[in-house]
Amino acid sequence: MERTYIMIKPDGVQRGLVGEIIKRFEQRGYKLGALKLYQANEDLLRKHYGDLQEKPFFPGLLKYMTSGPVTCMVWEGENVVRMGRQMLGETNPQASAPGTIRGDFSIVVGRNICHGSDSVASAEKEIKLWFDDNEVLAWKDHSHAWVYE
Ligand code: GTP
Ligand code: MG
Repeated sequence: MERTYIMIKPDGVQRGLVGEIIKRFEQRGYKLGALKLYQANEDLLRKHYGDLQEKPFFPGLLKYMTSGPVTCMVWEGENVVRMGRQMLGETNPQASAPGTIRGDFSIVVGRNICHGSDSVASAEKEIKLWFDDNEVLAWKDHSHAWVYE
């Protein structure tokens, strides 16, 4: 089954939104594969946001993302990469529809609460980057037969 890497950024953790964000993925029917609270360092973030190194906001992004713990998660399910991005909303919260995480809980792009992988290939890369193999679990989800036909 497809997997995605979802991360609650330091503002989401500080604002007490961890439970709310987990709840949305759980209630939709996705299966949790891994979960941890984690203090990221600049090295890891340079790898994670490698494509943005030349952007003028990159130093600020590093500072933001290392300013406190993040919550790292793997979620599994049909089309979860695309659906996960849809649940997050647009990069800029002001373009995000109400009902999305960014559209409901944030106002500016530099404090947009959460990250979601943008493709299946980046998801697999990001899961390897943020988790050791033994932190990602395969387990029998008994709701599967009720979520899928
Ligand atoms: P992620 O899920 O975090 O990867 O966001 P995204 O895929 O919607 O956007 P992108 O990968 O292009 O940018 C990564 C992150 O950099 C964004 O989520 C923002 O936190 C930050 N960012 C992007 N553009 C800007 C910008 O113009 N200004 C600032 N301050 N931050 C930005
Ligand atoms: Mg991105």
